[in-house]
Amino acid sequence: MEKTIRTAIFGTGFMGRVHLEALRRLQFVEVVAIAGRNIEAARRLGSGFSIVKGTADFRDILSDPAIDAIHICTPNALHFLMAKAALEGGKHVLCEKPLATRVAEAEELVALAEREGLFNCVCHNLRYYPMVQQMRRMREAGELGEILAVQGTYFQDWLLHETDWNWRVEAEAGGPSRCMADIGSHWFDMAEHVTGLRVNSLSADLQTFYKTRKRPKHSSETFSSKLSGTDMLGINLLGTKDYLDTPVDTEDYGGVIFSMGERTHGSMSVSQVAAGRKNRLSIEISGTRASVGWNQERPDELWIGRRDAANQLLLKDPPLLKPEARAYADLPGGHSEGYDDTFKQVFRRFYASISGAPISAAGGVHDFPTFVDGLRQLKIVSAALESNRTRSWVDVSEN
Ligand SMILES: NC(=O)c1ccc[n+]([C@@H]2O[C@H](COP(=O)([O-])OP(=O)(O)OC[C@H]3O[C@@H](n4cnc5c(N)ncnc54)[C@H](O)[C@@H]3O)[C@@H](O)[C@H]2O)c1
Repeated sequence: MEKTIRTAIFGTGFMGRVHLEALRRLQFVEVVAIAGRNIEAARRLGSGFSIVKGTADFRDILSDPAIDAIHICTPNALHFLMAKAALEGGKHVLCEKPLATRVAEAEELVALAEREGLFNCVCHNLRYYPMVQQMRRMREAGELGEILAVQGTYFQDWLLHETDWNWRVEAEAGGPSRCMADIGSHWFDMAEHVTGLRVNSLSADLQTFYKTRKRPKHSSETFSSKLSGTDMLGINLLGTKDYLDTPVDTEDYGGVIFSMGERTHGSMSVSQVAAGRKNRLSIEISGTRASVGWNQERPDELWIGRRDAANQLLLKDPPLLKPEARAYADLPGGHSEGYDDTFKQVFRRFYASISGAPISAAGGVHDFPTFVDGLRQLKIVSAALESNRTRSWVDVSEN
């Protein structure tokens, strides 16, 4: 029987809750403590799950020798500090993306995790939708041929109005890039994971449409501005006295053209101000033998395009998937597998690696994104910021 791994969560917002619920679906992991910005928030999240230890100081948890691993689900600017302290405290670390706000910080974390010999993971969970794995395994089997073009979007609308606010808007909490780091990093992680190719140079155009936003005097959780501050037309329901006009130093939108080698090129755009798009991560990969297209808002469907035969719309059904992709589908066809399930797939592999537990051979115990992948995404984001600043193409260095 595997040893139970005792873990703790830092952050009690959107991701804190999602991680907690996904961890409760694993057999040999126990969540024993939560750190929040204040003790009430930590206890409130923990109470529904019978988690007794809640603290306002994450260091209390790091000094507890009974805790083996930490999940970091706090705003981006805290990731480096918390991950570094956790590794120095001998804990395995699963950190939300982006791994840090700067390349140098991510490099330090990669080196530290390696030196300490600790397991580390960055939460690029979107790779683990079954149909994304199907695209990857089709490419590996040569069914796409040589890849010529990769294109897509990651569009959201939750920051469309000038009254929409979140900590991500301010570089001090979210880092110097918003859209590219927040959602573009998921897109590029998927593009590189599925194609097996690396972005080696890019040209980016980043735009901040709202130079100032109306910051609520009370704090708000991710996506919650859509429920509270404004009506459907963006009209302020709370009265102007509840807001502070605040300058915005991060981008609402980004467009990138890029190269992944001599003959593979691509384009993508990200936006958090695209009306009607909720979490539309779409990706289309065009090869010399076939194309594949997938959209996160319809995750169980994979479009397969062919020139000399009929196109297909493949619905997720485990027996119809490649065996290696099947390992990421836990439910029969017709029962959709969505966003929540991708966290379970990542965490299962991360914790199986820590405990040495077997997992289905096709799924691969060590198949989860590590700090090296987090560093990789920071290099792409950093190149996009530099390209936008200099209005030129910028090379993306290898890790
Ligand atoms: N993988 C994904 O699909 C995904 C989706 C959303 C967010 N994220 C990432 O997750 C992280 C958190 O984002 P979110 O959307 O949950 O934000 P959120 O604002 O909903 O939650 C952040 C939480 O951190 C807490 N916090 C702030 N300072 C703290 C401190 N010193 N100690 C403990 N807790 C503290 C806040 O009180 C809040 O509860 C971000 O890095 C974000 O990029 C990832």
